[in-house]
Parts: sequence; C-alpha cells; structure tokens
Amino acid sequence: MEKTPHFNAVSGLDSSDWQSVRAQGHRMLDDILDYVEHIRERPVWQPIPDDVRAHFSTGAPAHPTDLAAVHDEFMRYILPYATGNTHPGFMGWVHGGGNVPGMLAEMLAAGLNANLGGRDHVPIEVERQIVQWVRQFFGFPETASGLFVTGTSMANLLGVLVARTAALGVGVRRYGVAAGQQRISAYTSTAAHGCVAQAMDLSGLGTGSLRVVPTNGLQQIDLDALERAIAADRRAGFTPFLVVGTAGTVDIGAIDDLAGLARLAHREGLWFHVDGAYGALAILAPEIAPRLAGIECADSIALDFHKWAQVPYDAGFILVRDGTLHRDTFASPAAYLRRETRGLAAGALWPCDLGPDLSRGFRALKTWFTFKVHGTAAIGAVISRTCALARYLERKVNATPELELLAPVALNIVCFRYRGDDANRLNAKIVADLQESGIVAPSTTMINDRLAIRAAIVNHRTSERDIDALITATVAFGDTQLQNCAA
Ligand SMILES: Cc1ncc(COP(=O)(O)O)c(C=O)c1O
Repeated sequence: MEKTPHFNAVSGLDSSDWQSVRAQGHRMLDDILDYVEHIRERPVWQPIPDDVRAHFSTGAPAHPTDLAAVHDEFMRYILPYATGNTHPGFMGWVHGGGNVPGMLAEMLAAGLNANLGGRDHVPIEVERQIVQWVRQFFGFPETASGLFVTGTSMANLLGVLVARTAALGVGVRRYGVAAGQQRISAYTSTAAHGCVAQAMDLSGLGTGSLRVVPTNGLQQIDLDALERAIAADRRAGFTPFLVVGTAGTVDIGAIDDLAGLARLAHREGLWFHVDGAYGALAILAPEIAPRLAGIECADSIALDFHKWAQVPYDAGFILVRDGTLHRDTFASPAAYLRRETRGLAAGALWPCDLGPDLSRGFRALKTWFTFKVHGTAAIGAVISRTCALARYLERKVNATPELELLAPVALNIVCFRYRGDDANRLNAKIVADLQESGIVAPSTTMINDRLAIRAAIVNHRTSERDIDALITATVAFGDTQLQNCAA
C-alpha cells in the first residue's frame, strides 16, 4: 500500500515525507483533470442527499487526518455536488465555465501564497500588466487605474465610491455624506442589476437617491426619460452626479446606448459608470464590439473575468479613468504601510490604495494564464459562439409550437416558456425538473410578470447538442406536467 503523507504540526505544517505529498498531489491533480475531461458524462447538477449535507455538520477537527483521506472525502462529498457551471449544460444565471490553464494557475498562486495588497514583488506587476491590457481593451489612458476585486457587485460599489468623491470631494471620507449640504442623485435603469442599488446603500448615499429610469422595448435605458428625471431633480434642488449604464443586462443581455449615455453624462456633468459585468468583455469579439460604442468614454467600468472570459471564480475588476481620484478615494496613510525607496516596501502606489482590501489574493495569475494560453482572439471567439448558440436556441424556440419567446435575444440570453394555463407555476416546475434531471440547468426570471425559463449561454463548452437537449427536455417535462395536472 502506498504511504500517505504525514504532516507534523510540532515542526510546522510541512510534511517530512515530500515524496508521499508529491504522489498524493499528483493524484489530486489527476482527479480534477479527469473531472473536467469527463464533465459531460456527469449530471449538470444533482440535489444534495441528506447524508451528504449532514457530513458538513461536524465540529472542527482537533486531530489530524491523512491528506489522502481528506481528498477521498472531497471526491465523495464535495465534487459531485458542486454548482455545475463547468458542465456544458449549465445555463443558469451568468456563470462562466472556468478553464484548465486558469485552474492550474490557481494552484500555482496558492503555492506562492502572495499577498497583493502591496509591497514590491512581481505578482503585483502581473496585476499591473492586466490593468494595462484592460486599459487597451477599452481605449483608456495610461493614467487610468484598475484593480481586481471579488466580482462586479464589489466593482460597482467601488465605482459609486469614486463617483461620490468626484461629486462631494475627498472631505466626504472624513465628514461623511450626512455632513454635506448637497442632495445628490444617481440614475440607472429598471433593467440594472440589484447590486447598483446596493452600492448606493453601502456608500451611505441611500437607495432613495437612485432614480430607476424606465427602459424601451429592448430593455435599454430610455434616454429621454433619463433626461427628464435629471431635469426634475435639478428643479427639486438635487445635484445629479452619476449615471450607471449596463453592458449586458442580467435578465436579457441588453446593452444600453452607451454612446448616448456618454454624451448625456458629459452634457450634464455626471460621472458615467458602466456595469459591464459580463458584457464589457464582448469588446474582444469583433462583431459584437461595435455595440459597445461609447464604453470608451466611461469614467469607470466594472467587469468580471469569471463570466465570459472563463477565468475560474472569482475575478472581478474595476477600471477608473482618473487614477488619481481613484487613489484619493481609498488611500489611507498608516505607519505600518510606509512606502520606501528600496527594499520590499518600495513602490509608491500599492493596490491597497485603490480599494478597501489590504489582504488580496493573486486573482491576476489565473487571469494572466487564461489570456496568455488562449489569447484574446480565442476568448472573443467563445463570446461570439455563445451568442450564435443563443440565436440557434431562439430559432429552435420559434420553431417549437409548445414554446414561446418572451424577450428579444440581444446577446447570449434567451428567455422563453412552455405555453399553458397557469404558465408561471408550470414553468417554475419545468425549470426545477430540468435542474434535477441533470440534463441542463437554466434559471428563471420575470419578464413583464411572466416567469421565463432563462438560458444564459456563457460556458465555452456548450454546443448545439446542449441546446437541443434543453429544447427536448423542456417540452418533455412540460408535457408531463400538463398530463399530471389533467390526471
Ligand atoms: C449586469 C450584472 N451586474 C452585476 C452582476 C454581479 O456580478 P458578481 O456576481 O460578479 O458580483 C451581475 C451578475 O450576474 C450582472 O449580470
């Protein structure tokens, strides 16, 4: 029998038996590569059995367990019951599929255990290189700043905070928003993600200061309504300061008229932030990029590499045109964070000056590997392909009498339903059936009070075969539900 590694806490946490650690590490690597290679043979998702859930209710282990035994637990109790977004049949919410170089990079990053809050080391140069790439993607100047964060919810919050500094001055950091005399107001559309309102809440500006402007038939912000809302606020004594546009709305993937928003923001003197959680990186897909025209004029852009760019979770990002204002929003002098001209503490600007996190992992490495190994053209091609698959699904829905489309297909999201009485309840059941079947996993949303089966094609592994399976299974589960109701 092979030896399993022993870790001896008395002399630190490293094993003295490196050969066994290495053998076990290779087994773990093989198992996870097998998982990805054979992902199609697994259910997309499966309900968690009671005994598996109960496995995670035990207390903290006081005593050691073999690494091999813990890995075995992982294989039995964790790996089979993950979200499933690695699987090509996963179409719920907006989840990227991950990629193998990114996964391997994550292991390397954990080995380095670098803290990217600050100091002078190359991991920070890697993050800076990605900042430079993102500047180039969007035509931002050299003086623009960027930062990895968890996701776009956090990136939008940072964007709102920088906009708040622009409107109220850096004094707001000391005296708070309540001390100012100005009542400031922000604008977004009814199709915006909920984290925009949350950012207003968390920044102390309050959700009541956010005007939610109606959309047109394509779910793009109505620019005339926006202009009227701004004028009404000015008459009422408010100072409008921010407009948040969306590149890829969460419900249907609509892209606001970003050029129109940019012009309006410029005219009105507003900060123009783009929530490009998943849509912004369509800048890498040549035939979709023109639809983002105007994004290059934004003051700040929030985006996620973990969505369309397939970087393993999590890898959110904020880009700010005015790097000085960005730093002025977050940098705080502290004796223990003193900058030096030489040594490990060298460097004037540290990432911790650009956001609230002082301890920061090496998210940049998995992003760097993903882009280096695949190249921007391949990532752009994945984005184009998922949009083509969405159009394929749209055609299939239109050609299937039992189904109806509920929203225009703007990018890679298709909202449809099975026709029938009490359709909201019926379609909610169908989606649960689909998920529990393990065949495909779409999610739901509401479109004009109608519950939609929402298929967001994000995963680079998804193919026409998965779209066909979605259609066939939806019709089959719909038919069965109707039969059950009639029985
Ligand atoms: C348009 C939009 N904004 C923001 C978010 C939130 O992003 P995250 O989940 O990375 O925080 C999402 C998530 O899907 C989104 O689609």
